[in-house]
Amino acid sequence: MAENENQKGADRANRIIESPKRRGFDMSQLAGDRFPPPAWHFDKIAEEMACPEPKDRMMGVVKRMGSQTVPDFSGIDWDTALASYGDIEYPTYYQQPFHSVPGGYLSEAAAVGDRGAMEAIYEEWHPRRSLGLREEITKLIPTDARTIIDLGGGTGDMGSTVAAALPEADVLTLDASPFMLIAGEVQNGGIDNHRLQQGFAEATGLAEGSVDVALITLVFHECPNTIKRSILDEVLRVLRPGGTLVLSDTPTDDLHGFRGFYEPYKKEWLHFDAEATLAEAGFKGMERFEVAPPLWSVTARRPE
Ligand SMILES: C[S@@+](CC[C@H](N)C(=O)[O-])C[C@H]1O[C@@H](n2cnc3c(N)ncnc32)[C@H](O)[C@@H]1O
Repeated sequence: MAENENQKGADRANRIIESPKRRGFDMSQLAGDRFPPPAWHFDKIAEEMACPEPKDRMMGVVKRMGSQTVPDFSGIDWDTALASYGDIEYPTYYQQPFHSVPGGYLSEAAAVGDRGAMEAIYEEWHPRRSLGLREEITKLIPTDARTIIDLGGGTGDMGSTVAAALPEADVLTLDASPFMLIAGEVQNGGIDNHRLQQGFAEATGLAEGSVDVALITLVFHECPNTIKRSILDEVLRVLRPGGTLVLSDTPTDDLHGFRGFYEPYKKEWLHFDAEATLAEAGFKGMERFEVAPPLWSVTARRPE
């Protein structure tokens, strides 16, 4: 039954995106068939593709992706690598086809495409593209920080940039998706002071008060408000008193001009007020920085 629905959804999505160039492209192949079963997503992708708004920004990114320098992921044995993560229960809010990728972050396509997509998106905004953006965010981290976590750190580009800039610090990239982490080991593995680990930002399992700095970059626009709040509660718990949160994300109206990439929480994002949300959660000393516009960063502290 789920398989039939899945195929129907894939066929519908294929019909909508079909163009002479793309004929023969099979949406259902993009997710792979690993986990979770991808029956839940094709209709949302089809609906996004069918919207009447122009998709020029999305098409620009897809086009520019082809000219980015990306690591070689061909040596990954996905089945073996995934088996080492065991069975993980994914919350419903996370089982979404983010950016119209079937399987969302639980797919090889999202993981191996991450660097190229990020570089393509930020090519317009920073001379060193997404990697330059990470260098800018790193400047907001107090240089005496020794324990740093990057929550929802994806393939670890932020974590490895921070680890290189602060060699005396231990940096942990935590992400919910084993796919992102497996690609991340190829992209950013083998750095002494940087580890990549599976986990949820709202339940890190880290000891209370054990972290100097927490980073959250481009994660909140992909979370419902309840989860944003749970993540902030967790950050307050794991930060040491006086510890710093660096929250960075895209402008709140940005996703509405980026049609074609499905963004499940963009309505909530439109009304997101970083400073007010942080204050409500119990943070102090909020400061806003435009380190890599249009991306913004807000730093905040756990009260002493
Ligand atoms: C847009 S990517 C950003 C990745 C990275 N922070 C960066 O700057 O490139 C969002 C990432 O957040 C992760 N994510 C979303 N919700 C999460 C959660 N509750 N816990 C851990 N990771 C999460 C996704 O798996 C994905 O890798």
